[in-house]
Amino acid sequence: MENIDTTPWLERLRDTLSDSQFDLFYGAPVLVLIYGNKNIATYVNDCSMVALNLMLTARDKDIGSCWMGFAAGTANKPEIKKELEVPEEYELVAPVILGYQDGPPGVGEREEPEIVKWLK
Ligand SMILES: Cc1cc2nc3c(=O)[nH]c(=O)nc-3n(C[C@H](O)[C@H](O)[C@H](O)COP(=O)(O)O)c2cc1C
Repeated sequence: MENIDTTPWLERLRDTLSDSQFDLFYGAPVLVLIYGNKNIATYVNDCSMVALNLMLTARDKDIGSCWMGFAAGTANKPEIKKELEVPEEYELVAPVILGYQDGPPGVGEREEPEIVKWLK
């Protein structure tokens, strides 16, 4: 909640995030925090690939997953990194929850893709 006033895209989630009953992690028992070393040029790409591989492997084992952008602000706080013994130069890229799902995931409405330009 403390980031909501400085993060415009969170505004549409204000009601949800303000609800004390809302479980940010949907009851998942595991949160994997994937940090990357900022001194490596490709750390965001590398960590994103780790997250994707983790999520695909979980899916293969009937384990659900969700990239938890909401957790990024907190897990990047110096005091949290210190507690987790994460070196200063590491930044959280991908927080991913894992757990057995209550049921099959719903399928949301699909928007038409925006084609910027076809190159011939
Ligand atoms: C960078 C990133 C951050 C996300 N953060 C959250 C989150 O904090 N909470 C959440 O419920 N879903 C989060 N998601 C999942 C999305 O809401 C969405 O379910 C997912 O990208 C699947 O997209 P689809 O609904 O188009 O299939 C995140 C996804 C991405 C790529």
